[in-house]
Amino acid sequence: MKKKMLYLGAAAWLSSAAGVQAADVNLGRNLAASCANCHGTDGRSVGGIPELAGMSKGKMLGLLNEFRSGAKPATIMHQISRGYTDEQLTLIAEYFASRTAQGGGK
Ligand code: HEC
Repeated sequence: MKKKMLYLGAAAWLSSAAGVQAADVNLGRNLAASCANCHGTDGRSVGGIPELAGMSKGKMLGLLNEFRSGAKPATIMHQISRGYTDEQLTLIAEYFASRTAQGGGK
């Protein structure tokens, strides 16, 4: 029993140590994927929804915080933005900032 616990602990440590780098990069992308339903793949919007691709990190975090606090009126984003931690929103904003906008930047 004790031996098994030790083994599990070591395995968890090893996988987290090896996975740190890759996980950080992919985490932002994975989180941002939930925005694609409305904002388009990689934030390249096709409908009337604002484009997120290429938006600066600071601008996006500012908007998301305004949605969260209710300072910026919204139909849906106030609910969505409250579903994420600050860390998650930062990762999401960094991901979209790294994408290029459709028109090559506006
Ligand atoms: C259910 C559809 C939907 C999803 C999912 C969604 N959004 Fe939105 N988003 C909207 C709509 C609609 C607006 C316009 C404001 C409003 O009415 O809420 C908007 C506006 C925004 C804006 C403001 C853009 C601007 O230029 O004013 C940002 C930033 C944003 N969304 C980020 C996100 C992020 C990040 C995610 C994923 C975590 C996300 N959205 C997921 C529908 C969505």
